[in-house]
Amino acid sequence: MNDVLGYRGKNVVITGAASGMGEAAAQLLVDAGAQVYALDIAEVSAPVAVSVKVDMKNDTTIDAALNRLPQEIYALFNCAGVPSPPFAMSDTVLINFTGLRYLTEKLIDRITSGGGIASIASTAGMGWKPNIERVKAFLALDNSYDAAKTWLVEHEDEVSDGYGFSKQCIIVYTMLMAGKLAKKNIRINCIAPSPTDSGFMKILKGEGHIPDEAVELFLPSNGRYASGAEMGAPLVMLNSKLASFVSGHNLPVDFGYCAEVSMGQRDDLLGIA
Ligand SMILES: NC(=O)c1ccc[n+]([C@@H]2O[C@H](COP(=O)([O-])OP(=O)(O)OC[C@H]3O[C@@H](n4cnc5c(N)ncnc54)[C@H](O)[C@@H]3O)[C@@H](O)[C@H]2O)c1
Repeated sequence: MNDVLGYRGKNVVITGAASGMGEAAAQLLVDAGAQVYALDIAEVSAPVAVSVKVDMKNDTTIDAALNRLPQEIYALFNCAGVPSPPFAMSDTVLINFTGLRYLTEKLIDRITSGGGIASIASTAGMGWKPNIERVKAFLALDNSYDAAKTWLVEHEDEVSDGYGFSKQCIIVYTMLMAGKLAKKNIRINCIAPSPTDSGFMKILKGEGHIPDEAVELFLPSNGRYASGAEMGAPLVMLNSKLASFVSGHNLPVDFGYCAEVSMGQRDDLLGIA
């Protein structure tokens, strides 16, 4: 079969490959002929080339993982993430955004011309516009965990929704980085998934004690949760050669939920419109 996606023989790095969307994306990438380097805090069962234990909350583990990754990388997939609750605000932001940014910027010089970065944000981050100044202030910090930790302590009262904030940061970071990376012929995009049946959702509803009805407010009008595979596929598409002129984009993968909100057909519960 033709290498329509352009991954055959290419090195790709993916976080969060042990479960859910990341696992689905990792399997697709293996099937597409990529050399897959998986980073996760948990055991990865997809048949990847190399699997490295990493805690996205801990830069020491990321630094150690960098030595196991190739010097030339075609694509980076940032999938690792946790819900809040049950994770504390600060831990959620550190895992979901600070770790993502730290790893991305450590790898940028290894990403080859024509390559790309694709991350997972969330519908929960779609209300970034009313919060843009706070998000930009956080993004203006040095790329270090210490700077992020200090800022989060100082702004604890302002950042009540750590999960939503972490995902707003991913969306704004994606857009802010697009121009800089375009000069190196590298693309950067993210997706904003609606509620998806995964390990994340089990933790949110179980340990996080969020009731079904609260999550279901954000389901698309088809009335169902997505599967991990339905999120992994568009993510793989965005870093593929099929999307060779697509960058700086946040793609809602929500069967039209955000479109309905933007058109005033659904309540705007997140400040999206
Ligand atoms: N499930 C949803 O409804 C939903 C909706 C929107 C966005 N998301 C986002 O999608 C992404 C993937 O989540 P999922 O739904 O597939 O859930 P998942 O729990 O199945 O997968 C998350 C992965 O991240 C890994 N991970 C968690 N903490 C880590 C850490 N500290 N260091 C390294 N790896 C860590 C987990 O081991 C797991 O492999 C996350 O970023 C999540 O925020 C999920």
